[in-house]
Amino acid sequence: MRIFLDTANIEHIRHAARLGIISGVTTNPSLVAKEGAIDFKTAVLEICSIVPGPISVEASSLEVQGMLEEARRLSSWAPNIVVKIPVSEAGLEAISVLSKENIKTNFTLCFSANQALLGALVGATYVSPFVGRLDDVGHQGMEVVADAVEIFKKYNLPTQVIAASIRHPLHIIAAAKAGAHVATVPYNVLMQMIHHPLTDIGIARFAEDWNRVIKQR
Ligand code: E4P
Repeated sequence: MRIFLDTANIEHIRHAARLGIISGVTTNPSLVAKEGAIDFKTAVLEICSIVPGPISVEASSLEVQGMLEEARRLSSWAPNIVVKIPVSEAGLEAISVLSKENIKTNFTLCFSANQALLGALVGATYVSPFVGRLDDVGHQGMEVVADAVEIFKKYNLPTQVIAASIRHPLHIIAAAKAGAHVATVPYNVLMQMIHHPLTDIGIARFAEDWNRVIKQR
């Protein structure tokens, strides 16, 4: 399973890229808005230059023609841009056109295996079940990931499943066990994956013992 970073924060993307962990980035309008007054195109191009893998950028239009125009424009900015299109009738129609133009898409705001299947059938490059938001309303969000993976495998559908709306490290283990191709992870959760109190204690103890040995020599 690959890990993408779910953020528009350039410093966080730089840091995670330096660690060598991430192979892509996902953004959405809320994540971009969180970064304040940034120039959208400049920020997207900077992200594309830091991470050579897929960078998901969301189209804001809600009707087919607008989605198509936006997707063509966004994807012309850099070869690694993936256009996020929300689940909707317009979204399905737009993706079925864009897939024929070889424009990469991420069928986003996916909350059921049926939606994921439809995305795959119209040729979406990725579908993104939002695990955490489903958990929030009392559903097992990871079941949508597992079902989509199973269905795509059964019918050799090339669409990849991105486990999205990840809230904690256990979501990532569950996504990997469910066979998700990708988990897109917020920066704080990525840091939580790395650190463990017993590791920190172990490192401190080894350093202490080593320094004592050195002093005795
Ligand atoms: C994924 O592509 C989305 O940007 C993201 O995972 C949504 O997560 P949220 O539910 O924490 O907003």
